Amino acid sequence: MSALSSRVLILGAGGHGRVVLDILQQSGHSDVAGFLDNNVEIHGRRIDGVPVLGGIADVARLAAEHDARSIVIAIGDNGVRRGLARSIRRLGLELVNAIHPSATIAASATLGRNVVAAAGVVVCAHCQIGDSVILNTGCIVDHQTMVGEGAHICPGVRVAGRVKIESGAFLGIGSTVIPKVIIGCEAVVGAGAVVIGDVDAMSTVVGVPARAVKRTDMDEDVAALILPGRA
Ligand SMILES: CC(C)(COP(=O)(O)OP(=O)(O)OC[C@H]1O[C@@H](n2cnc3c(N)ncnc32)[C@H](O)[C@@H]1OP(=O)(O)O)[C@@H](O)C(=O)NCCC(=O)NCCS
Repeated sequence: MSALSSRVLILGAGGHGRVVLDILQQSGHSDVAGFLDNNVEIHGRRIDGVPVLGGIADVARLAAEHDARSIVIAIGDNGVRRGLARSIRRLGLELVNAIHPSATIAASATLGRNVVAAAGVVVCAHCQIGDSVILNTGCIVDHQTMVGEGAHICPGVRVAGRVKIESGAFLGIGSTVIPKVIIGCEAVVGAGAVVIGDVDAMSTVVGVPARAVKRTDMDEDVAALILPGRA
């Protein structure tokens, strides 16, 4: 787990940004230099006492000006969050995690960078949580489950053991996943769904039991890049 040893910038000042600020404050990290957000109308304002310093494109300059070497990306869109994380790394800034003090993370679990774990999250033994994953309020991820880069596990989701959640997947609020299934890259699981079988990449499933209602066809070149061996 990356340590919060320096001043922090939060990228994104929307609802999720406020949650991340609260997590940092609750975990005793009061040295938040500010938010960056692309909504110019909120530049110069304060959110919960913390200033919105400017736009995200200016992150390198603003980080230097405010002596902030640590970054948490608090943007809900999975693709944007994942892409931005890669750009931030190229700038040489450090992506750090925001873990609420009430989150319970097993000692044998591994966490990537830019992971947000909100209040009441439980991550059980031998889970692997990738970079830029959001583990939202009160979700449970049971033993040996893998969560891929940039996935979002929404509030109250229950994921059983040995599940594989691929990169960029979105598990809607209150959904449930039984053991050993694979949820494909960029798939969407609707609020309250109960997933009892594998979910195809880029598809949307809803209901109890979950059934597919949408599938976005992936460009072959993109598929080869993000789903090696499955294109
Ligand atoms: C699944 C979801 C993403 C689908 O959104 P969408 O792509 O805009 O799809 P639509 O609203 O067009 O719905 C498609 C069909 O699925 C049904 N449907 C959508 N969401 C559903 C759900 N959660 N449960 C059951 N059925 C659902 C719709 O009624 C519609 O059915 P129809 O074709 O018979 O009319 C969305 O409804 C959802 O559940 N989002 C979860 C959001 C969430 O958890 N946010 C938390 C953020 S922290």
